[in-house]
Amino acid sequence: MDHSGGQTPVDHRDQETLRAHVARELARSRQRSTLLTDAVDEDDLVRQHSRLMSPLVWDYAHIANQEELWLVRDVGGREPVRSDIDEIYDAFKHPRSNRPQLPLLGPSETRRYVGEVRDKVLDVLDRSTFEGSRLVDNAFAFGMIVQHEQQHDETMLATHQLRSGPPVLHAPPPPRAEGLALPAEVLVPGGGFVMGTSTEPWALDNERPHHEVWVDAFLIDTTPVTCGAYLEFVGAGGYTDPRWWTEAGWAHRQAAELVAPAFWDRVGGVWLRTRFGVVEPIPEDEPVVHVSFHEAQAYATWAGRRLPTEAEWEKAARFDPATGRSLRYPWGDEDPTPERANLGQRHLRPAPVGAYPAGASPTGVHQLIGDVWEWTSSDFHGYPGFTAFPYKEYSEVFFGADYKVLRGGSFGSDQAAVRATFRNWDYPIRRQIFAGFRCARDVRPGEFD
Ligand SMILES: [Fe+2]
Repeated sequence: MDHSGGQTPVDHRDQETLRAHVARELARSRQRSTLLTDAVDEDDLVRQHSRLMSPLVWDYAHIANQEELWLVRDVGGREPVRSDIDEIYDAFKHPRSNRPQLPLLGPSETRRYVGEVRDKVLDVLDRSTFEGSRLVDNAFAFGMIVQHEQQHDETMLATHQLRSGPPVLHAPPPPRAEGLALPAEVLVPGGGFVMGTSTEPWALDNERPHHEVWVDAFLIDTTPVTCGAYLEFVGAGGYTDPRWWTEAGWAHRQAAELVAPAFWDRVGGVWLRTRFGVVEPIPEDEPVVHVSFHEAQAYATWAGRRLPTEAEWEKAARFDPATGRSLRYPWGDEDPTPERANLGQRHLRPAPVGAYPAGASPTGVHQLIGDVWEWTSSDFHGYPGFTAFPYKEYSEVFFGADYKVLRGGSFGSDQAAVRATFRNWDYPIRRQIFAGFRCARDVRPGEFD
């Protein structure tokens, strides 16, 4: 077990390396926000494309407002850039559906504000020594803001998916599957493993602290459930048979009249999907995406299986049976690369299953990081010893049975905001996020004796 705990303070020789890293990450996230907001005209920026989402211009100014609050005012101790707009861009004060009615900054005003805040932040960054408080140690606050921007970029990408009209985003296709004959499922041995982290410098409060968790042996799908497999569930009448659904899931299926994943349409007896404005046949070898927790759970029950718990998912993603260690990522401790995972909006879709053999975990599980967020069966709770940091509204206020945990990130998640310990959460009815799932099951008595 790896029990090396505690934050390593930044070595002075490494300060410049860290400063350069932060500057690069800030620039990378801003490049992405710019791409997502420059892709549409001004009318599109201020319009609400779905009641589920904010206008893109709200997200963009909100990104800058959070950056101002934490890095300009708190870390930098500087005068506010615009304290008059804090209230408008406070995500807790206004639900998404009401945001178009707020006196929002217009597109050019927003861009000016975003730039002004960033200039000040780069000045704060230049002067920071990255030590002296938990907020600045290892540049944590900068890392938190980078992740916040990348998370909103993924949200803006989901808004793009909900937007109607011709495609405005373009990206090359993901790699093809390698043609390997992968087993359908793999065995993850029973026993304790270290879940969460106390050492990852930019890990958020809900990933901490690390702690040992016992997990019985289980089997998990080698890859996420594909559109082809999901089509069988649809074709077998899965959406019309309450046996496969929980009570809450069935009630929702009926009320929302769900018949297939979001963005699927049956045209002339053939299922098609709309993806960022492109209408195309359902790709059978790609992980299914835009399904709610309820749909994932119903599929799993129909298939005679279940969703993995959050601990099972993390053990499958991190545990190395050869050393007993928990890794940062399935493939090891090194950062993601384009060969290991489909992340960062590099491709505008999940990759076919089997496309990332270099990203497999020690137990042989593929595509845990990237492609699609994966629903788990677990509610969102703090780990033993959890303390909110730096504010309760990041995660603590969401703890409880209302939210299900999702893991692993999607093609729309950036590598700055995904790790094998990273936890996402959402309502079980949510479908506009880039979420799919994989199934698991218990070991049958005598199966491996
Ligand atoms: Fe936010």
